[in-house]
Amino acid sequence: MLMRIDKVLSQLKIATRSESRKLFAAGRVMVNRETVKNGSFRFDPEKDQLYVDGNPVSYEPYQYWMLYKPAGCITATEDAKEQTVMQFLPPLRHRDLSPVGRLDKDTEGLLLITDDGALNHALLAPGKHVEKEYFARVRGLVTEATVRQFAQGLEIGEKRPTAPAVLEAVSSHPDAGEGWCEVRVTVTEGKFHQVKRMFQAVGMEVLYLKRLRMGTLVLDEQLKPGECRLLTEEEIRRLKSDHGK
Ligand code: URA
Repeated sequence: MLMRIDKVLSQLKIATRSESRKLFAAGRVMVNRETVKNGSFRFDPEKDQLYVDGNPVSYEPYQYWMLYKPAGCITATEDAKEQTVMQFLPPLRHRDLSPVGRLDKDTEGLLLITDDGALNHALLAPGKHVEKEYFARVRGLVTEATVRQFAQGLEIGEKRPTAPAVLEAVSSHPDAGEGWCEVRVTVTEGKFHQVKRMFQAVGMEVLYLKRLRMGTLVLDEQLKPGECRLLTEEEIRRLKSDHGK
């Protein structure tokens, strides 16, 4: 069934009918290869591909954004003083988008932002044990004993020790002092400052932290800090099928 493009944009909560006129005037809306000039353009949800600001928009009730969170902003939808992660999304109406989980202000990397509340909830549910993989630079050197301690679970001041985590040294830089190393660590929980506290528990300090993966969703290497893109259909399908229920 063909639909007016301004109705599509308003249904998707990208722009109201009056806002969409500004988008058309600025040439920001395309269907397939054609720039849309006005709201009466006929859109076929079955066949046509919509683009806003060059980003493909799927005709779906929900939006799923991958953000390469830069350091220096907080994971919140709004804040009176601090820059938030939402400010890195395109200047479209933000629907009810919210970040899935939290990264610290100084942590970088993969952040999923969506208005699909059910998926957001499922990815964070403690019982789901969704893997979160990080790259970290830490003060001190990882030994086989450290790897074992992460695998066994660590006391970080919670009721119970942490769930088993996989720690893998990527590079080691011994020096006259204690040295430093680069690691990959995969956890299945999301406790406050979890990775930093786990390293603290073994006498090491996280100097830099970047999230690489959440469940099946991997940070796109093409993105630079502060850049975002919509998830592909395949990424959405895998997230829902592997973690959504
Ligand atoms: N663990 C941390 O310590 N900080 C983060 O931002 C994410 C995981």
